[in-house]
Amino acid sequence: MTNAPAARPAVLPVPAQSTYQTRIADYWNAEENPVNLELGKIDDLYHHHYGIGEADTSVLDEPDPDLRRKRLTAELHRLEHAQAELLASNLGNLTADDRVFDAGCGRGGGSVVAHLRYGCHADGVTLSTKQADFANEQARARGIGHKVRYHHRNMLDTGFETGGYAASWNNESTMYVELDLLFAEHARLLRRGGRYVTVTGCYNDTYGQASREVSLINAHYICDIHPRSAYFRAMARHRLVPVHVEDLTEAAIPYWELRKKADHLVTGIEDTFLTAYRNGSFQYLLIVADRV
Ligand SMILES: C[S@@+](CC[C@H](N)C(=O)[O-])C[C@H]1O[C@@H](n2cnc3c(N)ncnc32)[C@H](O)[C@@H]1O
Repeated sequence: MTNAPAARPAVLPVPAQSTYQTRIADYWNAEENPVNLELGKIDDLYHHHYGIGEADTSVLDEPDPDLRRKRLTAELHRLEHAQAELLASNLGNLTADDRVFDAGCGRGGGSVVAHLRYGCHADGVTLSTKQADFANEQARARGIGHKVRYHHRNMLDTGFETGGYAASWNNESTMYVELDLLFAEHARLLRRGGRYVTVTGCYNDTYGQASREVSLINAHYICDIHPRSAYFRAMARHRLVPVHVEDLTEAAIPYWELRKKADHLVTGIEDTFLTAYRNGSFQYLLIVADRV
């Protein structure tokens, strides 16, 4: 009598891009939110993040409805741009020969801001081919395509040169990935003494587990917001040593208050952010770290 060979578990090929990452790519390939496009059109700087600082609420008193819409759009863009400038101002003393890495670059505004400030080379990566194409077209039109380039790549596994970067950052893109994988790649790419910066929402460990609002934000953007503690643990494991940490939560509220009143731009998540910030369950952080 012969025994039938025991069934072995099937060996499935590991996809280059996970199902989750494909879902993220689909989201950003389809994304056409006015809050992202109308603001960017003002000066061709496309930011897909929120804003910080005091808002000029006088725009709400504008009696002419068309002008009110335009002034509101411009004010929100100013606040988003202030965030990009804050991030760029923390990248260290860069020169025009230096190279920077923009992880999860969206439609590319952050790399342009860094280039305009330092004259440096920039490589941005996004899972969305549409975003990478759009951003490259913008850079070419601006005449900086030889220094600022965007790539359809995974920021966890870029294939870029080890130690080739003087600075790198994530502006609102850490909540799409496992932090250990992300910081391992930043640590690999950054030269010793290089700078890493992130601006991110995180849930507040002192509040407890993620709140209802944090869960709603996760569902809205298909992301997975990390607790604050996870950033510092994962950085410590990957030779990234914080040199400056700033709680931007208070500074983030005026942007959301104003955006909530911009009927032509709201996406429906505004009240959730405001509640999350106010009930203490969610924080907006700037973390600056040295690669040691
Ligand atoms: C909220 S947007 C932020 C865009 C940009 N940092 C900005 O400030 O305008 C999130 C971005 O992260 C990107 N992203 C998410 N996971 C990624 C991954 N594993 N590799 C590369 N990009 C990723 C998305 O494609 C999207 O461009």
